[in-house]
Amino acid sequence: MRRVRFYTHGGPEVLVTEEAGIPVPGPGQVLVRTEAIGVNYVDVQIRRETDPDSIYFRSVPATLTGDVVGRVEATGPDTDPALTGTRVAALLEDAYADYVVVDAEWLAGVPAELSAGAASMLPTVGAVALGALRTGRLGAGETVLVTAGADAIGHLAVQLARQRGAEMVIAAAGSPAKLSFPKELGADVVVNYSEPGWADLVRDAAPRGVDVVLEAVGGQVLNQCIGLLAPYGRAVVFGASSGDLPILPVRTLFALKSVIGFSLLALRAAAPEQARANVAELARLFGSGALRACTQELPLADAIRAHQMLEDRAVTGRLLLVP
Ligand SMILES: NC(=O)c1ccc[n+]([C@@H]2O[C@H](COP(=O)([O-])OP(=O)(O)OC[C@H]3O[C@@H](n4cnc5c(N)ncnc54)[C@H](OP(=O)(O)O)[C@@H]3O)[C@@H](O)[C@H]2O)c1
Repeated sequence: MRRVRFYTHGGPEVLVTEEAGIPVPGPGQVLVRTEAIGVNYVDVQIRRETDPDSIYFRSVPATLTGDVVGRVEATGPDTDPALTGTRVAALLEDAYADYVVVDAEWLAGVPAELSAGAASMLPTVGAVALGALRTGRLGAGETVLVTAGADAIGHLAVQLARQRGAEMVIAAAGSPAKLSFPKELGADVVVNYSEPGWADLVRDAAPRGVDVVLEAVGGQVLNQCIGLLAPYGRAVVFGASSGDLPILPVRTLFALKSVIGFSLLALRAAAPEQARANVAELARLFGSGALRACTQELPLADAIRAHQMLEDRAVTGRLLLVP
């Protein structure tokens, strides 16, 4: 079988596709034959990071994370044998391969009618979009701003915010070509946050300020988002795709503003039942057609190209590698 690794940190070209034996599931694990692998932006940061003190650093040789969809081919010791033959999805640390070994604890069951693209969004990107909106306590009638609103998490957050009763959904994306996409998905207002005046356009659309911001770009964009919050507004921060996580002066929050962190792993640890309920809700929404999964696909052998597209910010929706 094929698997992808990197042996030195660097650009997309350091990714190596190699042959290896099919892995053997250990206790509590299952072997999954992959149908699709959802690619995550965090792996660009992991692949590049050479500072051992960084949260993104991995010593080499290193594997790539991803959201694998596939069928269980075998179970390890102490694992429910009835899982064999079922279709599942899971986030794992070593995802780019024809076969993967997965801990059974966080396997999401995947209904047969769900597309591989939708299924790939259950473990992480959908769970982050829904979890972050819940963390921001979005209420009916409120205004939401989603930065990177055309990306994997963002395009789901736009749709979920609409469904959860937001009165106005504003999506910010990094190029003119990306603006029509969140608009089609239900955003009322779209702005290009690569343009200097973008925050003024948001103020024009929401003069009272925005109630909830979903933010994972970081740097100046995060500071500008805090400036856009209404009194009692909440900015939910769950990443820093720009690579810049600014230190926030507390005084920026005195005007009744809050900044709340979100991490999927923290939610799983603190509220596992809620985390599982979120995944089940997402499966229902995708299954009923209420939530649209927008994907672009590349063959697994094109992992380098996939990472180049992530670096070039050339992806709308979710990028899948297909064995
Ligand atoms: N906390 C958690 O549990 C958790 C879990 C998963 C992911 N995340 C984080 O959530 C963020 C989004 O993840 P995703 O999988 O939805 O990502 P994605 O689909 O790959 O999209 C990332 C987007 O970030 C925007 N961006 C802004 N500045 C950028 C820069 N300097 N370089 C590259 N992209 C830049 C780009 O959109 P524009 O071109 O429109 O700006 C890009 O399309 C990432 O930061 C990731 O680490 C957090």
